[in-house]
Amino acid sequence: MLNFTFQNPTKIIFGKGTVSQLAEQVKPFGTRVLLVYGGGSIKRTGLYDKVIEQLKSIDAAVFELPGVEPNPRVTTVRKGIDICRKEDVQLILAVGGGSVIDAAKAIAVGVPYEGDVWDFFERKAQPASALPLGTILTLSATGSEANGNFVISNWELKLKRGSGSQHAYPRFSILDPELTYTVPREHVVNGIVDMMSHVFEQYFSKTPNTPLQERFCESILQTVIENAETALAKPTDYDARANIMWCGTMALNGGQISLGMQGDWATHEIEHQVSAIYDIAHGAGLAIIFPNWMKYVYKERVDRFVQYATRVWNIDPAGKSDEEVALAGIEATREFFTRIGAPATLSDVGIGDEHLDQMAAEAVRFGPIGQFKELHQEDVKEILRMSL
Ligand code: NZQ
Ligand code: ZN
Repeated sequence: MLNFTFQNPTKIIFGKGTVSQLAEQVKPFGTRVLLVYGGGSIKRTGLYDKVIEQLKSIDAAVFELPGVEPNPRVTTVRKGIDICRKEDVQLILAVGGGSVIDAAKAIAVGVPYEGDVWDFFERKAQPASALPLGTILTLSATGSEANGNFVISNWELKLKRGSGSQHAYPRFSILDPELTYTVPREHVVNGIVDMMSHVFEQYFSKTPNTPLQERFCESILQTVIENAETALAKPTDYDARANIMWCGTMALNGGQISLGMQGDWATHEIEHQVSAIYDIAHGAGLAIIFPNWMKYVYKERVDRFVQYATRVWNIDPAGKSDEEVALAGIEATREFFTRIGAPATLSDVGIGDEHLDQMAAEAVRFGPIGQFKELHQEDVKEILRMSL
């Protein structure tokens, strides 16, 4: 196990009806609030009215930034920064999925920064402070509600890049599983794939002697697998939605499950390049690419893939070589993704081989990616080619 330091400052308020606690959470930060939300789902579901009612009860001055795109754009982030500066906003409140929360984080760190916010994504600067941020999560997927990461697209440059900062952690996040009942099926599937992928990125590691961390990872994967089909078949099954929601948060809340382990994260880097050009949903891209990454790298550490196959998928190793067991686990992953309705190939989402070189080059722009197996441009291209 490697040395580590861990601090997660986000207060989590979890459960039915917890939006009623919004006013008391907001008040200590001040009453000038920027409400950030997406393309309108919160208005259709009635959540917007509940939020406004809470904010009115403390006489808050509410400014709004609606229309945050899935794969949020830096142009929208800049608009939010302008509003915060002009209106002396004291708290940013993000109400939505990962895209809305990520945009709100970029706004929060961008407000006190003198340069352009895109500098953080060019690695020209690191956030030094941030406006306080609170969230109400409406879609289980990214873990953004309890981590310091944010991923933003620059549509003009056709780039999608991540950044992260201890300053970007939300101060509080309200997680009511009932708010996820209305998420379209496709996005529930994407979310399930995303949270499983977050675990994969941490679990497939070469760091030795991390048994507790590995079991944390396996327990999240097993819990997602056990609850996914019920959550999809019965969108209002509270227990299934609650379990999925908590798995999503635990899968990526500042790396708590994999402290002391080196993570990989190459597949996320590759997927972001696909979304940058084709604007596909992050989870859909991961469903396509992850099993191919697994096939490309499993020989680096067959024992970890054998452990994955036997503990997570209950593959019976009797009469099989280690390699056969490892491959059976990878196959089980693909079958599960297909069973819940995720795409399996780039052509399933209308993508051909036109931009493979561009995506591969961009994935390694800051150097080789991945820790489980270091990937260079040609490796990334091969994984993308396997995904066609
Ligand atoms: O925009 P609205 O109208 O709200 O609709 C959204 C959007 O169309 C809809 N939706 C959300 N909650 C809903 C709902 N519809 C009905 N009822 C509800 N309760 O769902 C659609 C997708 O939302 P989005 O926020 O884009 O999804 P997700 O949460 O999967 O976020 C994806 C973004 O997060 C980034 C991804 O790259 C992508 O840009 N990621 C962020 C991470 C982080 N901050 O830690 C890590 C991830 O690996 C990921 O990269
Ligand atoms: Zn992800």
